Amino acid sequence: MREDHQDAIRRVDETRLWQRHAQMAQIGAIPGNGVNRAAFSTEDIRARRLLVSWAEARNFEVSMDGIGNVFVRRPGLEPNAAPVLSGSHMDSQPRGGRFDGIYGVLAALEAIEAIDEAGVKTRRSIELVAWSNEEGGRFSPCTMGSAVYTGAKTLGEVAGAQDNDGVVLRDALAETLAALPHVRKREFNAPAAAYIEAHIEQGPLLELEGKTIGVVTGIQGLRWFNVEVFGETAHAGTTPLRVRKDAVRAAVAVIQALAEHIRDPDDIVRFTVGRMLVTPNSSNSVASHVLFSVDLRHPDLATVQQLGESVAEIARQAAAPCTVKITPTLHDDPCTFDASVVASIENAAGRLGLAHMRLPSGASHDAMYMSRVCPTGMIFVPCEKGVSHNEAENATPGDLAAGARVLTATLLDLASR
Ligand code: GLV
Ligand code: MN
Ligand code: MN
Repeated sequence: MREDHQDAIRRVDETRLWQRHAQMAQIGAIPGNGVNRAAFSTEDIRARRLLVSWAEARNFEVSMDGIGNVFVRRPGLEPNAAPVLSGSHMDSQPRGGRFDGIYGVLAALEAIEAIDEAGVKTRRSIELVAWSNEEGGRFSPCTMGSAVYTGAKTLGEVAGAQDNDGVVLRDALAETLAALPHVRKREFNAPAAAYIEAHIEQGPLLELEGKTIGVVTGIQGLRWFNVEVFGETAHAGTTPLRVRKDAVRAAVAVIQALAEHIRDPDDIVRFTVGRMLVTPNSSNSVASHVLFSVDLRHPDLATVQQLGESVAEIARQAAAPCTVKITPTLHDDPCTFDASVVASIENAAGRLGLAHMRLPSGASHDAMYMSRVCPTGMIFVPCEKGVSHNEAENATPGDLAAGARVLTATLLDLASR
């Protein structure tokens, strides 16, 4: 390996990286050591300002596109060559942890700072990217920033999304953009030479296998739906059960029927109902309307397709005497990462003497949309007991730094091609 590349990797600073996680974790901190940093909230704006302040302290150029994705650029020798991108997201689940997403942003910042401190001249520019609204916990669907950036969705298609309080995404986004007025605006979908995302594994495999680095091979497919059940509100004390159209009982029947249908002895199918809104939501009124989400995932395209196609009919049958309306909200096929990027990550882990293994991602990531427009890969580091989307999410400073070193080595390789 080139001496200046080795120097850059040595300059990855475990303490700085850990302290930045601690600083970010104060923004939206919730009891139990977690964070609640919803997309386009005041906490999200504070996180963006902090990131921008770190980037500007280094004189890196910062820009932001029309959905609020933030870019931090370290220029290469050939400013017109497509850059290598690396990052993840800063928003969190409502009861999220301190590492999901933010690790990939801070690891990319650590990498470009280390490369800068070592004075390495790369052929291509390297750009950190912090994607907007990856989690979809406030505004559905998830991975929105990368979907719009890559053209998989338009800003117009997602701008009308509403949160549980009726706030429209368009307005929350406008506030976010206005909060960083000095940041240069940029267009969507500039050419990228490659994209690498570092992330905690969010599952237990690396820990169980005693490995420090996961070389990610791809992401399983998913289907999201909103299921609405329409009944009739009535008095809970007077209305005989036989004449009710109880939307809550019908919703429970639908969920039960879907769970029966997806039953998988190998436990590979993922089926989740994580969000439910009841109207009028009063303990002595029969519910007239229930909206709930369905999240279905599987690594195999045919299976995820077939599961998704079965939802509407199963729901219709199980909901009687209530009626249902099914709205697909997200549709992502499984993706396979680029072989040369996967090999670059694997070689970097090997050269650094880190125990590593290949594995697929069960969670979705912005890397999925980026894989449609450029060679893409991901680096996983272990998280304690595989716990994620939970305040207790945890990772060690040493593993986070090891992942940042692999990221630095991989960025240097790809930026020199
Ligand atoms: C992303 O957090 C996902 O839902 O997989
Ligand atoms: Mn994430
Ligand atoms: Mn997440």
